[in-house]
Parts: sequence; C-alpha cells; structure tokens
Amino acid sequence: MTIEEALREASKRVKKVATRPRLEAEILLSYFLDCQRTTLHLLADRELENAKEYFKLVKRREEAEPIEYITGRVSFYDLELEVGPGVLIARPETELLVEKAAEIVGEKKIERVAEIGVGSGAVSLVLARRFPHLHITATDISDKALEYAKKNLLRYGVEDRVKLIKCDLLSGVDEDIELVVSNPPYISEEFNLPDPVKYEPKEALFGGKRGDELLEKILECVKRREIPYIACEMGYDQRKSIEEISLKLGLGKPIFYKDLAGLDRGFIIKS
Ligand SMILES: C[S@@+](CC[C@H](N)C(=O)[O-])C[C@H]1O[C@@H](n2cnc3c(N)ncnc32)[C@H](O)[C@@H]1O
Repeated sequence: MTIEEALREASKRVKKVATRPRLEAEILLSYFLDCQRTTLHLLADRELENAKEYFKLVKRREEAEPIEYITGRVSFYDLELEVGPGVLIARPETELLVEKAAEIVGEKKIERVAEIGVGSGAVSLVLARRFPHLHITATDISDKALEYAKKNLLRYGVEDRVKLIKCDLLSGVDEDIELVVSNPPYISEEFNLPDPVKYEPKEALFGGKRGDELLEKILECVKRREIPYIACEMGYDQRKSIEEISLKLGLGKPIFYKDLAGLDRGFIIKS
C-alpha cells in the first residue's frame, strides 16, 4: 500500500467522526512517520511500511478518541503543548480569554496573576511569555493536569515565573493577587457530552448540577480576597446567572465577550 492509498483509506475510515477526514489522516500519518505533513505529498507513491501500525492509530480516531490524545499534542497560539488523557485539550476559543486577560495586564500594569484550573498550562504559558515581568500562580486539583502544565512550562522556559500549586481554587495561594484568570469547568452535569469530549477528564468539564457552580465559587473567592480584576470563560447560556451572581456579591456588572461563532463565551469584571 502506498502512502497516498493509505491516506485515502484512512480518510474513509475516520469520516464519521472527523469534520476534515483527509487532514486528520495526514496529521496521523505525519505523526506516525515523524515528518512534516507537507512531506507526505512528496512521498505519495512510496510504499508505507508498517501500515498495520498506522491503521491502529486510525482505529483509535475512528472510535472517537480526540486526535490530540493520539498524537499527544495540541496547538495553542504559536505553541505546541503536550497533552494526553487526564488533561483538557486547550480549545481555540480560550485564546480569546488570554486576549482579555492580556488587555487588563497591559492596561493596569499588573504584576501578579493567579490562574484557577491551569490544565495543560496554555493560558498561563502564553501570558508569561507575552509579559516577561509577570508572576503567575496557577492552581489545579488534578495531579495529571499539573504534571502536563509543568512539562509545558519547562519546554518554553517559563517555569520560574509560573508557580504551580495543587489546591482548590486559591486556597493554597497566600500572596496578593491583582488579576484572576480562569477557564473553569462550566458544563452542567446533566449535559450529554459528544463522544470525543467523553475522553476528557470530568473534573475539567463539569461545573456542577447547573454548570455555573464553580464560577460562582470563583466570584465569591475574588470578592472575599478583594481581587480587583477577573477574566473568565463561561458557557454560552450563563450570561444571566453570572450577571446576577456578580451583582449579588457587589462585584458590579460584568463585561461579556463573544466567541467567533457570536456566542457569549466569557466575561471580565473590573471592580
Ligand atoms: C476547562 S479546564 C481548563 C484548563 C486550561 N486552563 C485550559 O484552558 O485549557 C478546567 C481545569 O480546572 C481544574 N479544576 C476543576 N476544579 C477545580 C478547583 N476547584 N480548583 C482548581 N482547579 C480546578 C480542572 O482539573 C481542569 O484542569
């Protein structure tokens, strides 16, 4: 079987789970052969050795495992992060959260940030690289997430400016924080997840029975500690409840932002 034939066959097999089957077949093959995707075109007529092993990867994808868990990597901004089972795959919409947090850091000359729910490290990593003066304390309750975050911070050389702490919310953070940034779990436990998302850790997805329970706890924590700025991602249908919680706590009216699909996706509060 040639490389081109293998790609055609793999595209057919992953079609039912992949929106761009050919692209995914190529990503899997370039990962398998440890080469650039563009190189595959040059090798199209070459015989694919070990085709059986390649089709084992294709089978995992056919069964709806996220491609990022199979290849062990995800792109976020210009970075390539290591990910795997046990840690959330950073999503493109979270780049908007980073932009919102970056605007506040730049505008208010912020030096101390805390991230709640660091996951693979995506958000803290981009902020730390963009603002060399910034000190970030990033928390998570998951050992696996903290393991990946550590690897990714080390890979990009910002481990001395992003301190990782295993704790609930900010319970293990003693220093004064000026900005909290968070993409917390915010899906309702009653929501039926699509197949690929079922592979991701529950503690990274579900925020409680309603979905916004952890967001509420974050806002209470920010209020209690008198942290002046917050930037959070949220679910597209949580605008009303977040506004109510924020006003009830006396944090003021949140400023909401939308994602590229035009859905409410997050908010900032400057109190
Ligand atoms: C949606 S993921 C976000 C990961 C990463 N920040 C990103 O955007 O890709 C949420 C993260 O919050 C963590 N988490 C859940 N509950 C938490 C809590 N009470 N305190 C701290 N972290 C928590 C989860 O383990 C998970 O890594």
